[in-house]
Amino acid sequence: MIERPLSQIASAVRGTLRGPDAVASTVQTDSRAVAPGALFVAIEGERADGHAFVEDAFARGAVAALVHRPGVEGTVIEVPATGRALLDLAADERDRMIGARVVAITGSNGKTSAKDLAAAVVGTRLRTHASPASFNNEVGLPMTLLGAEPRVEVVVAEMGARREADVRLLCDVARPDAVVVTNVGMAHLGIFGSWDTIVRAGAEPVEWLGADGTAIVNVDDPVARAYAEDTEADVITFGLDTGADVRAEDVELGPDARAAFTLSSAGEREPVELAVPGEHMVSNALAAAAVGRWAGVTLAECATALKGAGVTRWRMETFTGASGIVVVNDAYNANPESMAAALKSARWMAKAKGGRLVAVLGHMAELGPVSFEEHERLGELVVRIGVERLITVGDQARTIARAAIREGQLPEDVASYEEPSQAAADVRAWARRGDVVLAKGSRVAGLERVAEALR
Ligand SMILES: Nc1ncnc2c1ncn2[C@@H]1O[C@H](COP(=O)(O)OP(=O)(O)O)[C@@H](O)[C@H]1O
Ligand SMILES: [Mg+2]
Repeated sequence: MIERPLSQIASAVRGTLRGPDAVASTVQTDSRAVAPGALFVAIEGERADGHAFVEDAFARGAVAALVHRPGVEGTVIEVPATGRALLDLAADERDRMIGARVVAITGSNGKTSAKDLAAAVVGTRLRTHASPASFNNEVGLPMTLLGAEPRVEVVVAEMGARREADVRLLCDVARPDAVVVTNVGMAHLGIFGSWDTIVRAGAEPVEWLGADGTAIVNVDDPVARAYAEDTEADVITFGLDTGADVRAEDVELGPDARAAFTLSSAGEREPVELAVPGEHMVSNALAAAAVGRWAGVTLAECATALKGAGVTRWRMETFTGASGIVVVNDAYNANPESMAAALKSARWMAKAKGGRLVAVLGHMAELGPVSFEEHERLGELVVRIGVERLITVGDQARTIARAAIREGQLPEDVASYEEPSQAAADVRAWARRGDVVLAKGSRVAGLERVAEALR
């Protein structure tokens, strides 16, 4: 954040400063991250209320707390709602980022990965700040903007949506110069309510641009392609499609499922080999290269950056466990498209290593009306892909196991457990050196615990 007095912050958030004026140099919502000079913003979340940590924040040197509950001791800025105030403060910060450009990364799958890769690409040439981890909501997005260094040139901001108008609101705050749409899929269908709503919500970032800015869209995705055809903004397309502005040719997967391809744009061609496994990472890498082109990075620089770039943990995080079992921890979240992508990559890895594939799967949350059907389809996919052992974790994932057995998986090659620890014990007893274990499910299913137990 650009340092500023509390009195200025109070006016930016239309709040009242109670106590002496002082300079705040950072903003934190987690009191444990507070260092001297921080403004602590007390956010009321689903699990905890930040107002309970104000005292802790002061003990760690916070200059003030932004609060909406009365009666807090110490220097405070009082507002009607701290969540709204945090957005207003970030919008104000954005106004002060003279000369900085913001690119918003949106879509159903691959946002965090594309964000990480794009930051690596753009960072080769420009002072770049990216959303930490998966900071993409009405708290994470303002914290992304407020976390930037004063002299930042490009902010790569992830934006997530679970409801209509979510991304529109985040765009009003971040005012992106460019927006990326990675793809449009079934993620959070249960909360969105219908496919039509997802398609409408997915269009919001491109619509937000109006006739200005640049829409960077995946033309391999029919829905995203339609957004690009509809907009008056500049468009950069990416994909395998031969008409894409930034495309991949001759994609090949190595034995560890890392993709190698020729990155091609405007008549130039550069070889790329990704550091992250998964064929689906090609699309994310192309999104990153397209962002790079938009930011003025050469194609050769994009290729070099992509070769060395990693992504946030629990996305296709692959390691060999103590007993020689290859573990793929893709347990950050799951929906039908990302399940299919991870299963295909893991299948490839096992085949290349001459090992067998174990899929340890939790349920896919927030699918609403299509949930049962999609879990059944996943069970069928497991059989078609040829998984040697299927293990499900949790009650809701049993549908996957039942569908797999109905589709022809031998019952002795299927097991269902309640606890990740039981699944890990099953894998330990069954798997041998060279076998590949994929651990994946929605965040709440905690499948990363299976992966960690096998380390
Ligand atoms: N382009 C893609 N298509 C399908 N699945 C993907 C894609 N990119 C990533 N995934 C998978 O989706 C999950 C989430 O990836 P992540 O990059 O965190 O996306 P997001 O931030 O949109 O949730 C991971 O399991 C990852 O393997
Ligand atoms: Mg994310």
